[in-house]
Amino acid sequence: MLNQKKTLDTIKQYKSNQQISMLTCYDYVFAQLMDEADIDCLLVGDSVGTNVLGYASEQEVTLADMLHHTKAVARGVQTSFIISDLPYQTYETPEQALQSAQLLIKAGADAVKFEGFYPDIVRLLTAHNIQVVCHLGLLPQTALKKQVQAVDTDSITLLYRQACELEHAGAVMLIVELIPEEVAKEVTKRLTIPVIGIGAGRFCDGQVQIVYDVLGLTKKQYKHVNRFFAFRERLSEIFVAYKKRVQQHTYLDITHSFHVNEL
Ligand code: KIV
Repeated sequence: MLNQKKTLDTIKQYKSNQQISMLTCYDYVFAQLMDEADIDCLLVGDSVGTNVLGYASEQEVTLADMLHHTKAVARGVQTSFIISDLPYQTYETPEQALQSAQLLIKAGADAVKFEGFYPDIVRLLTAHNIQVVCHLGLLPQTALKKQVQAVDTDSITLLYRQACELEHAGAVMLIVELIPEEVAKEVTKRLTIPVIGIGAGRFCDGQVQIVYDVLGLTKKQYKHVNRFFAFRERLSEIFVAYKKRVQQHTYLDITHSFHVNEL
């Protein structure tokens, strides 16, 4: 069915049938392209801060930033399901989380996501008909070091327990970041909601990646990313070539100009 907006029910049904595709998305052009490519979910992640806005950390991202980018993405989307991040310190209490989430939904998000184990927030937002995606494993907003999580028995057990409780509280989807593949596989088996991995191996219900990593726009290369293309290098070549052609006066030829006698 063309041009039919994906709902949570659509995405949930995929759990047992097909892998769910999710990419971060921060602007209108990429939203259009991803939507046309039928990417299931676009995540307006607070990774916008370090990837697009040049911030040093996710902690600098404001709700105003997230609203701005959510609106841009929503303008480009017809069918994909849009999830927007609650940025750092905008969900310190369930009431504050509700206020922030309501603004993101008004800006065009279909669901909101936050990091960490806060079942009270899930319950309050769900009671106000807001679909909540949770995020466990590495939590970029507060992690002191970006390293693999859930590597010992206690932290693995804790992750299983928290994941189940968040589902129980009403979470509609779970993102797990930077955890061992075996642990992610077990979480995926234990939950009935879709579990989407980033750096969590091959056996989740779907994959999310930072779009700039996938395209090869990011300087750093990560183990959990399979780059499609060295876009950064290619773009550099294009900009250098543009400058050279402008300097050499060869960028435009007669066909690119308007002429008095054709008007
Ligand atoms: O902000 C983001 O891009 C995210 C992903 C890492 C899942 O939360």
